[in-house]
Amino acid sequence: MERALLILKPDAVQRGLIGAIISRFEQRGLKFQGLKLMQVDEALARRHYAEHEGKSFFNGLVSYITSAPVVVAVVAGKPGTVELVRAMVGATNPAKAAPGTIRGDFGVDIGRNLIHASDSPESGERETAIFFQPHELIGEWNRSLDGWI
Ligand code: PPS
Repeated sequence: MERALLILKPDAVQRGLIGAIISRFEQRGLKFQGLKLMQVDEALARRHYAEHEGKSFFNGLVSYITSAPVVVAVVAGKPGTVELVRAMVGATNPAKAAPGTIRGDFGVDIGRNLIHASDSPESGERETAIFFQPHELIGEWNRSLDGWI
């Protein structure tokens, strides 16, 4: 089992794109283990993006992600899930993201690129632990549906 953390960023929530984005992952066959609306505070944002501290975009990125509520989610699947999710999200700059990807279909601005997705299985585990308590992650119900979907 491999997991990716998703953050539907403030622009996705403000533009009413939560359902459209979430449904893409459902339609692709990925299973949600966690899903919630929340406000990210500065300490959480700095922890999540710690590897980018010092880069030119860091302060703007922290301001952006803390500016309004976000939806955070954990999707899980077989090995390769993180790579699949990243392919669905598309290039960092929506203006250069391929049509058919989330950023390529919904965005144009790198400073409002709609969604974060973990970039490796290790990041998926680290980021999941930052945003979710163990009791908020549900695994069993997915398996109970496997027999009839
Ligand atoms: S790097 O330097 O290659 O590691 O950066 P990258 O992986 O492309 O991006 C790291 C996160 O920073 C966001 N980003 C930006 N935000 C605002 N403005 C600019 N110019 C910018 N460049 C990169 C990018 O979306 C990544 O955040 P997440 O949340 O993972 O998408």
